[in-house]
Amino acid sequence: MSLLELKNVYKIYGDLHALDDVSLKVEKGEWVSIMGPSGSGKSTMMNIIGCMDKPSLGQVLLDGMDISKESDKSLTNIRRDKIGLIFQQFHLVNYLTAVENVMVSQYYHSMPDEKEALEALERVGLADRAKHLPSQLSGGEQQRVCIARALINHPEIILADEPTGNLDEANENIVIELFRQLHNEGTTLIVVTHDPEVAEVAQRTIVLDHGKLVREDINENFEAQNSSAAKPAENKKTEEKKAEKTEEKKASKSTGKKKKK
Ligand SMILES: Nc1ncnc2c1ncn2[C@@H]1O[C@H](COP(=O)(O)OP(=O)(O)OP(=O)(O)O)[C@@H](O)[C@H]1O
Ligand SMILES: [Mg+2]
Repeated sequence: MSLLELKNVYKIYGDLHALDDVSLKVEKGEWVSIMGPSGSGKSTMMNIIGCMDKPSLGQVLLDGMDISKESDKSLTNIRRDKIGLIFQQFHLVNYLTAVENVMVSQYYHSMPDEKEALEALERVGLADRAKHLPSQLSGGEQQRVCIARALINHPEIILADEPTGNLDEANENIVIELFRQLHNEGTTLIVVTHDPEVAEVAQRTIVLDHGKLVREDINENFEAQNSSAAKPAENKKTEEKKAEKTEEKKASKSTGKKKKK
């Protein structure tokens, strides 16, 4: 069974078909890019996959469950438990600092943990901006706070809508490297992008046009790009450290040390 399956999905606004008979399967652990011109339906599709909107027609199966038929409350739970969202608009809370914005997402799991939130900010290169408000951060920095917030609950699926739209090349590379690590940890990634360089690092790219899925390209070089030989030694070290940390965290969680409630 695929982790995600869209079956003949339509989203219709008046006489506009924002999605027009889209069928798609995504397997667990896959890394998929979504491209297409402005207005082609990319965000509409992400909103539906992310349980923020429902299709007009068709089925959306997540882990075999038809989410197009679930109640709003149940969709909120599915989103909280399985999905990490990185939006095209940032949706940061203006009066909370960067680290507090990251902790908001932990709050819904009733486990606010400032240390873990700070680690997530460090992972996106923002340790020194933790106490800044969104209005005191650049667009690229705000984007990275969103990414930290999406990572915090270790979601099964990360949905990212233009995650590098506001970033310069150095920051774009930080985000791509983060995605690579998440992929290696088994996270399923679905990434909307206009940037061919961001799209090309995925295993598969699908292209939307006027709401229709018009093309699908498989990245034949994916394994080579991601083999350890292709990676700089430093990244390997970071990953080893990360793996150790995850183990530590698992151990402390199972002993209940971190639960504050
Ligand atoms: N709530 C709505 N009511 C009416 N039309 C809508 C609504 N939401 C989206 N649309 C239309 O649906 C189409 C697809 O929009 P969508 O936001 O999915 O495009 P997109 O591919 O994400 O574009 P972009 O690259 O500019 O973000 C557009 O023509 C848009 O105007
Ligand atoms: Mg969009």
